[in-house]
Amino acid sequence: MNDLAGKHIVLGLSGGIACYKAAELCRALLKEGATVQVVMTEAAAQFITPVTMQALSQRSVYGSQWDARAPNNMAHINLSREADAILIAPASADFMAKLVQGRADDLLSLMCLARPMDRVPLLIAPAMNREMWDHPATQRNRAQLQADGAHLLGVGVGEQACGETGDGRMLEPQELLQDLIAFFSPKRLAGQHVLVSAGPTFEAMDPVRGITNLSSGKMGFAIARAAQEAGATVTLVAGPVALATPRGVQRVNVVSALDMMAACVAQADQATVFIATAAVADWRPDNAADQKIKKDGTGMPQLGFVENPDILATLAQSPRAASGELFCVGFAAESHDLLAHATAKRARKKVPLLVGNIGPATFGQDDNALLLVDANGAIEIPRNSKLALARLLVADIARRLAQQSV
Ligand code: CTP
Repeated sequence: MNDLAGKHIVLGLSGGIACYKAAELCRALLKEGATVQVVMTEAAAQFITPVTMQALSQRSVYGSQWDARAPNNMAHINLSREADAILIAPASADFMAKLVQGRADDLLSLMCLARPMDRVPLLIAPAMNREMWDHPATQRNRAQLQADGAHLLGVGVGEQACGETGDGRMLEPQELLQDLIAFFSPKRLAGQHVLVSAGPTFEAMDPVRGITNLSSGKMGFAIARAAQEAGATVTLVAGPVALATPRGVQRVNVVSALDMMAACVAQADQATVFIATAAVADWRPDNAADQKIKKDGTGMPQLGFVENPDILATLAQSPRAASGELFCVGFAAESHDLLAHATAKRARKKVPLLVGNIGPATFGQDDNALLLVDANGAIEIPRNSKLALARLLVADIARRLAQQSV
């Protein structure tokens, strides 16, 4: 994807061991189509060389305010005026303190101070030892930077270069990339709380076996990510899948359809949108064995099944859905006659919007094609990556919500 196409990012490095991650971040930004201008402090150059950053960014690196390359000798003005955003990664404790004070004794801090605040956002990815991060001075600075209009991207938790464990690591390059992409995304769902069900369910027969299906969860996870990018609060109720949780999304893991039902019902009171992408098992064994069923020579055990509750139909018929406070979107994975089945399913589930797709063509794939069915008919969204489709679907849902409220 080229999610940052046309964006010019000034990547600022201050001194910290996390500078090594800035190299990968720089590559990742370029891969997404951004152009990157690196600016480094003297301390940053102790951790990674400007040569490395130049080679990766394909531009010469700036480090000094006395750099004579700029014809007007005002690198701090030129660099900040060109940028769509300035991202400081890593931002050391010292550099944050400097920004708070409005000091400008090196090119990077000078450039941050000189940036036009109304059109060049400043994003900060702190990186430091956990004691430094927890220190009241740093926390004061963090709050002050936010109050001054900077966007704090948070910190990671875990093992640190110093050998200690705790908060303060710089976020991983892919996390920072996702945050930056989300930062630039239009906030179409601001104020909405989106609940997404995703993945398969697993219906146990005994402690080691069960019935499941081929749903990978990728579409639901992509929708959760797209909704978060669009500014919604997102809760993702996920069946057993090994996918990474999208940034900023609250995930609730479940196993069976009954678990998924309980989790969705518990979350639905706060939700304003429910998107049911999960491939919920229609039936479960009626009498799951407590112990492993053994092969004792008498042949296959006879299993009985009971029908699982329909989560989507239940929520779509709740009082909040009826009053328009909860907008429900269903999915239909069919093997044939998509339009007819999806239209019938929309009526049966009583949802305003149902998204049809061909099951065998989507399960486990990274791309898909969708058919949006509503009261007025159907619109095809042609084959694309699941993330691109998810963003289109989110934009479509946002339009419907906006129409509903006029
Ligand atoms: N769904 C649900 N709970 C269920 C079954 C389905 O919430 N117990 C939701 C799915 O998440 C999806 C929609 O209902 O959004 C349609 O699911 P699908 O399995 O295609 O439909 P079914 O109602 O199971 O119909 P059929 O299996 O006959 O196609």
